[in-house]
Amino acid sequence: MPSAETAASDRPASSQPAAAPNAPLAPARQADIPGWFFRLDQEAFRHLLSAQSEAGLTGDILELGSYLGRSAVLLGDHLRPGERLTVCDLFDSAAGDADNDAEMTMSYRASLTRRGFEANYLAFHPELPTIVQAPTSVLADGRIPAGSCRFVHVDASHLYEHVSGDIEVARRALAENGLVVLDDYRSEHTPGVSAAVWQAVFTGGLRPVLLTPMKFYGTWGDPEPVREALLARDWPAEGFTVDEDVIAGRRVLRLNNAVRPAAARSGSRRLLLELLPPAATRAVRRGLRALRERRGARPGGTVAPR
Ligand SMILES: C[S@@+](CC[C@H](N)C(=O)[O-])C[C@H]1O[C@@H](n2cnc3c(N)ncnc32)[C@H](O)[C@@H]1O
Repeated sequence: MPSAETAASDRPASSQPAAAPNAPLAPARQADIPGWFFRLDQEAFRHLLSAQSEAGLTGDILELGSYLGRSAVLLGDHLRPGERLTVCDLFDSAAGDADNDAEMTMSYRASLTRRGFEANYLAFHPELPTIVQAPTSVLADGRIPAGSCRFVHVDASHLYEHVSGDIEVARRALAENGLVVLDDYRSEHTPGVSAAVWQAVFTGGLRPVLLTPMKFYGTWGDPEPVREALLARDWPAEGFTVDEDVIAGRRVLRLNNAVRPAAARSGSRRLLLELLPPAATRAVRRGLRALRERRGARPGGTVAPR
C-alpha cells in the first residue's frame, strides 16, 4: 500500500486506505492520517486554494466525505480569517439505504469513527470544522447558504443517485468561479460517479478545468483564471506532467506524476530493440540476458524483460 510520499498516481486497486486504520490517534504528520488523498492531488489542492486566496476570492470550503480527515486537514490549512470549513460524513452512523450501507461496510466501517476524525483534525488545527454527521443528502435542505463557498470537495458515496445529488449541492453552494473537485470520476469500481460527473458536464453546465488520475476539477464559472493559475507553475520541474485535451470544444488540462526514470529507460530500450535489425536485436538481448544473470536479477526487476 503506498504511503503519502510514495503514492502511485492512481488509487490502489483495493479499497484499503494508504495507512493502517489503527494509526495513532494523534498523528505527527498529515501523511500519517489514513485515507486516499495522495501527493498529486494534495499539490493541486494547495496550488488552487492558494491561487484563489491570492486572487482575492474568498468563501467557505465544503467537503462531502472526509473519512479520517486526511483531505479535510489540508482544506483547513487554507482557511483565511472569516472563512469556515464544513465537513459532512456518516462517520459511525448508519447509511440511509442498503447499497450505501454495503459500501460503508466494505470500505470504512472497520476503521472509521467521528472521534478518530476529530482527533486527527485537532492534531493540526486548534478548532474543529463544522461537522454534519449525516448522509450528504441532508445538505440539499439549504443549510449551506447558496453561493457561500469557493471550494467544494465531493468524495462521499460512489452511487450515481448520491453523487448526482452531491454535485447539485456543490453547484448551489459555490460562488461564481468557485471550484468543485469530484473524486473517483474514472475508477473501474465507480461507474456511477463517472456517469454523474459527465452528465453534469453535458447537461448541467459544469466545465472541466483539470483532470488527474483520481479527481475531476471543474467550475460553473469561468475556467480561464484557474487554467492560467495552473499553467503559471512549472509542474514538470517538480516531477509532474501537464497535458492538454479538448473535450467538446473546450480545453482541459491533465496533471499526472511523471514516469519514473527506470520505467522510462526500459521504454526507450524496448523502442531501440524494435528499431534494430533482427541480428542486432538478438545480440543486444543476449547481452542484456548475460547482464541480468550477472546481477542475479529476478523477472520483473529493473532490467527490461525479454
Ligand atoms: C473515500 S472516503 C473519503 C476520503 C477522504 N476525503 C480522504 O481524502 O481521506 C468516503 C467517505 O464518505 C463517507 N460516506 C459514504 N457515503 C456517504 C453518504 N451517503 N453521506 C455522507 N458520507 C458518506 C464515508 O463514511 C467515508 O468516510
